[in-house]
Amino acid sequence: MIKASVIGWPIGHSRSPLIHGYWLKLHHIEGAYEKIAVAPQDLQAFLSGLREGDHVGTNVTLPHKEAAVAFINAPDARVRRIGALNTIWREEGRLHATSTDGQGFVSNTLQCINDFTLAHKNITILGAGGSARAIVDELLRCNVSQLNIFNRTHSRAQAIATHFGLSVNAIEQQHLNQCLVTTDLLINTTSTGMNAEGHIQLDWTKLKSDAVVADIVYTPLMTSFLQAAAHRNHRIVPGLGMLLHQAVIGFEKWFGVTPKVTSELYDLIARDIDPDYRT
Ligand SMILES: NC(=O)c1ccc[n+]([C@@H]2O[C@H](COP(=O)([O-])OP(=O)(O)OC[C@H]3O[C@@H](n4cnc5c(N)ncnc54)[C@H](OP(=O)(O)O)[C@@H]3O)[C@@H](O)[C@H]2O)c1
Repeated sequence: MIKASVIGWPIGHSRSPLIHGYWLKLHHIEGAYEKIAVAPQDLQAFLSGLREGDHVGTNVTLPHKEAAVAFINAPDARVRRIGALNTIWREEGRLHATSTDGQGFVSNTLQCINDFTLAHKNITILGAGGSARAIVDELLRCNVSQLNIFNRTHSRAQAIATHFGLSVNAIEQQHLNQCLVTTDLLINTTSTGMNAEGHIQLDWTKLKSDAVVADIVYTPLMTSFLQAAAHRNHRIVPGLGMLLHQAVIGFEKWFGVTPKVTSELYDLIARDIDPDYRT
């Protein structure tokens, strides 16, 4: 039986088994997908074990996304550009890897807001962690006009701007509100900071009135960032869809079927996150 997994340390919170389990059942595939806690010191040995046997690949989450790159035979261009991966599969005894977060973000945004296009748009990203890096890499492939990155630790935003080049600007707090005036898509990639205490200060009245607002955080499903945007009648993109879309590529590599992100799947995972969730 073909087996795949998700590894992390810790891994208890992962919804990936529910997502892949749903698709396995839907497509009548006799496969398995499980979560496995792998401590940093065991990462190399775990990945070596994927080179043979029925365990053919894995998703990789924190804290292994960057460290795992060193143990892959054939990282794709995305992994080489961003220095991190989240999906590993085996081909003829060699480990291949990609990062699907950027594609997951873009697919989710375009599915949620079906008349929105990315070409020639101004985009502001809050946060400069691993997921921001993957999203910047993908957005630059979508012919966007301008990417502004604001981060609590400015040097990390600067590092992304330097890495990706001229169309990416690292902005400082005093220029953030001014940036919002021409922003078509505002994205929160910080793991926190949008709560009542407010670690990132934004003046929502400055944001372009037809801007789309996305959050990649999906617990809670409706973050306070999205609530503030919806309150001002912005169209919003919740983060759970990104989790579902980024999973498609791994499933296809391991089990040979391209699964769909449907409202039934969304509702299943949303109910797991929030038992009071209603469609
Ligand atoms: N929907 C999905 O499929 C998906 C995929 C990947 C990640 N995520 C979620 O996205 C979030 C970020 O993930 P990541 O991998 O990019 O994490 P990461 O590499 O640890 O980066 C975290 C980012 O959040 C910022 N931050 C943390 N605490 C903050 C605070 N109190 N105020 C302001 N900024 C703060 C950090 O700023 P500093 O640099 O100043 O520390 C950094 O920019 C996580 O919640 C993760 O669960 C969702």
